[in-house]
Amino acid sequence: MEIVVSGIRPTGNLHLGNYFGALKNFISMQNEHDCYFFIADYHSLTTHPTPQDLHGNVKQVLVEYLAAGLDPEKATLYIQSDVPETAELYLFLNMNAYIGELERCTSFKDKIRQQPQNVNAGLLTYPTLMAADIIIHKATKVPVGKDQEQHLEMTRQFANRFNRLYNVDYFPEPQAYNFGKSLVRIPGLLGSGKMGKSEGEGNAIFLADEPAAIRKKVMRAVTDSGPTTPNQEKPEPIQNLFQLMSVVSSKDTVDHFNDLYNNCQIRYGDMKKQLAEDMIHFTTPFRERIKELLNDEAYISKVARMGKEKARASAAKTIKEVREIIGFKSF
Ligand code: TRP
Repeated sequence: MEIVVSGIRPTGNLHLGNYFGALKNFISMQNEHDCYFFIADYHSLTTHPTPQDLHGNVKQVLVEYLAAGLDPEKATLYIQSDVPETAELYLFLNMNAYIGELERCTSFKDKIRQQPQNVNAGLLTYPTLMAADIIIHKATKVPVGKDQEQHLEMTRQFANRFNRLYNVDYFPEPQAYNFGKSLVRIPGLLGSGKMGKSEGEGNAIFLADEPAAIRKKVMRAVTDSGPTTPNQEKPEPIQNLFQLMSVVSSKDTVDHFNDLYNNCQIRYGDMKKQLAEDMIHFTTPFRERIKELLNDEAYISKVARMGKEKARASAAKTIKEVREIIGFKSF
């Protein structure tokens, strides 16, 4: 059994791309491994130092992940700021993190460009905080996308450096958890690229979307003027529409529209109507569960408390040992 850690940024609502991407894998991992999934609210301050509604954002993310299937009885689901041991380990790691390597980090360079008015030390040390999140539980596996690989490499660097400097074999080297073929790429509705919000709200279908919003977005999805020769190849926006259909509709439905396309008889309006209804059918249980959970304060606080207890037990053990290794002693 592996010890798995993953952080979730408390920004924005879950969409179908998230669900069919990492989330489905989290849901299956929680049955097989010792998983720690946390909401990275400390990290969010590096880009949003004075959030409007930090607590509300964290609650929304927690609720949506629960609604999507993360199980607090199986995984340890917690909020980063509930485990201040993380901040202490971050402090220790920062003492042995070098300005040069932090400055060379690609995500830091990107952030300098994105927010030149706020190049704070938290941004520079984002990778040490992430390393602290991971090694505080002595994780062996971290499910990360391509964009996080460099951070994971830095985590290994910091963990190894700690072992070397203090002459111990304490932290394991966390490796990327490879999903392989189970990572389905979900395209956006507005033509090219994957589903996400960066191309505008209309590009993504959120688990919490109301039926009317889903119909509106799907009907506005990008198409073309239609096929003119039988069995012709599908251009990207049409390919995307079929890909979306393949995750929410039955095989018969997909085959039906595929045949119409191949006979040059397809009417995209009809296809979109069907796709919208199938998306509504698929997302409805999630939306209903999200609404239910948002009103269940008692359950939410029970989940948060459980997660905090389990995560702190693990983190406190590490911090106690790390303090001993470095040489802190109480008088
Ligand atoms: N940096 C990650 C992201 O942007 C979030 C994150 C914070 C994380 N701490 C982590 C991911 C620890 C995995 C493990 O998505």
